[in-house]
Amino acid sequence: MEILQAAAELQARAEKWRQAGQRIGLVPTMGALHEGHLQLVRAAARENDVVVVSIFVNPTQFNNPEDFRLYPRLPEADAALLAPAGCTALFLPSVEQMYPQPTVLTFDFGPLERVMEGAHRPGHFNGVATVVSKLFHLSRPHRAYFGQKDLQQVAVIRQLTADLSFDLEVVAFPTVREADGLAMSSRNRRLAANDRAVAPRLHAALEAGARLVTAGQTAEAAQGAGSRLIAAESAITPEYFAVVDARTLQPLVGVAQPGQPVALCVAAYLGGVRLIDNLVVQV
Ligand code: PAF
Repeated sequence: MEILQAAAELQARAEKWRQAGQRIGLVPTMGALHEGHLQLVRAAARENDVVVVSIFVNPTQFNNPEDFRLYPRLPEADAALLAPAGCTALFLPSVEQMYPQPTVLTFDFGPLERVMEGAHRPGHFNGVATVVSKLFHLSRPHRAYFGQKDLQQVAVIRQLTADLSFDLEVVAFPTVREADGLAMSSRNRRLAANDRAVAPRLHAALEAGARLVTAGQTAEAAQGAGSRLIAAESAITPEYFAVVDARTLQPLVGVAQPGQPVALCVAAYLGGVRLIDNLVVQV
């Protein structure tokens, strides 16, 4: 596995791979890798000739400077995990490499970003779309792999890919969970032991809400039940618990229609660490 730090180097490699007819899989990450990331890398290795993994803690997508400062950074440990998973090239750029000049262009994803993460993290999806566009241009992937835990991010990236005619397939992979149901996340490393112990409550609340949706109860009933379960745990500060149409991410009102995919989504703070999770169900 080679490690590339310069944007121009990655661009040159991608050009060479393309000319040799090799299929390129890209796994964009912010590092502090866990099994969820490694499953994306292994899938990319199965489905492509070359796998590029980027590790870049992207400053433009953090609306909270403290969250950016405390985001776990473990490049050596990450690199050791990547080679056995099938990574060909690790792209580890500096902020200067990714942002040689401040960006002026802004993205607006309309209703897709007026809810949930977009509503609670102003500018977040603009930063995500900016950096993902840059990574797409630099690595010229045939396929790009993302985790479904960031449900809204996947929807935004699909929209970005379609609107800007990026000639690639966006592949979304199911959320990988710890044995107690907690969704794997780089931020889990920052949880204190007592917060880690109650963190699976988020998944339990999603499951409780999902059971009501699939039993034909209203979105409002599911939202209320999930919210109450979370509110009952004093160590958790809820931000939102939403029940939405999984295709549009707009709030669901009343009972889901047969065949309508429904996403239950949660964001909450545990001891200052912000976690998100979701479940998609069909009636
Ligand atoms: O999901 C992430 O880790 C990031 O948002 C991404 C897609 C790598 C962009 O910085």
